[in-house]
Amino acid sequence: MSKNSLTKTKEPIYLDNASSSPIDISVINEMLPFLTDFYGNPSSLHGLGRKSNLAVSKARRQISKLIGSRSNEIYFTSGGTESNNLALIGSARLICNLKPTCKRILISKIEHDSIIETIKFIEKDMGFEIDYVPIEKDGSIDLDIFREMVSTKTGLISIMLANNEIGTIQPIRDMVEIAKAKNNETIFHSDAVQALGKIPINVNDLKIDMMTISSHKINGPKGIGALFIKQGIHIKPIIFGGGQEMNLRSGTENVIAIVGFGKACEIWKEKLASVQIKIKGLQKYMIDRIINEIPGSVLNGSMENRIFNNVNFSFSGINGEDLLIKLDEYGIEASTGSACSSNKKQKASHVLKALGLTYDQISGSIRFSIGYQNTQEELKIAIDALKNLIKEFRKINGNSFA
Ligand SMILES: Cc1ncc(COP(=O)(O)O)c(C=O)c1O
Repeated sequence: MSKNSLTKTKEPIYLDNASSSPIDISVINEMLPFLTDFYGNPSSLHGLGRKSNLAVSKARRQISKLIGSRSNEIYFTSGGTESNNLALIGSARLICNLKPTCKRILISKIEHDSIIETIKFIEKDMGFEIDYVPIEKDGSIDLDIFREMVSTKTGLISIMLANNEIGTIQPIRDMVEIAKAKNNETIFHSDAVQALGKIPINVNDLKIDMMTISSHKINGPKGIGALFIKQGIHIKPIIFGGGQEMNLRSGTENVIAIVGFGKACEIWKEKLASVQIKIKGLQKYMIDRIINEIPGSVLNGSMENRIFNNVNFSFSGINGEDLLIKLDEYGIEASTGSACSSNKKQKASHVLKALGLTYDQISGSIRFSIGYQNTQEELKIAIDALKNLIKEFRKINGNSFA
């Protein structure tokens, strides 16, 4: 492939913010004293311990403000994956003890692997039955189909608020109402890792019982997340020990990361409205240019019900991984689907499969996810490179769009 038309950018153009996002400088500044001076264990009664304890409480308040919960409804974990494990296995343990006739779980076909793999464990090792709600062509769930699939035996439902690959937002509040009308005791959980900071979230408006969030998707540090659990819901722990996090998640709190997560939430609470306008504009610029200038391109997911940072396209006759590697050579960093499962390189995306895409469309897909640090100039460079690379790949392959 010729390099004549393309030159490597000086700094990487990072368009993979849904995989992980750069830590905001104010977040780093907030965390630093807890790396250097304030090292006390939040459970200790002395001054340094109390300092850490206060910092953890402050972060709980900052996070609860972003999602409209009470601060004592926030339980810290090591990230979205652990929160999803805790929500599902903790609920399944509760159901086994108290409602053994409700051992059915309902999830969508496009949940993150941290839900799907946990559900397989619950099915195999805990004797639950699993129902999978199908997905429409645009990535949304049909409420009538959902209604039919909820039964009085459904003890737990887990449907993500926004999808990580195609960005589709689900009508969670409607689903909660449908589910609770059938069985008011059904526990409703939502994985909001990709929705946090991308749409306004109020757990009371959504009427959900539990919600998963993660710090590193919103310019906070990695390895920290939280599970919102509505007061009155008493799921069982999956990690045992010293009884931290109100006896639900033992282990000394990761104070440094918790402080960073809290600050990141505070920033997004302040910035959400203005960032939304900026990134939405960049998203539109990118989608419009790709549709108009690259023949054989199809946008995956819904245009209307989409988080504002997600751009996912299939390019006919192109291998997405080859394209990704070439883009990376020129300093443009994107993704094919979920980075969290990128160790399973050859596995076709279960999300794109659930949309009913052809093999060619699945293998030719690529996801760009925009962050608040990105500029239109960066997107211009990325789109120009994308156009040229696709043209060259198609020329080599003898594709009709070349
Ligand atoms: C929708 C969704 N849920 C859960 C996770 C896992 O979060 P974490 O990386 O914090 O474990 C991810 C990560 O990409 C995600 O996109």
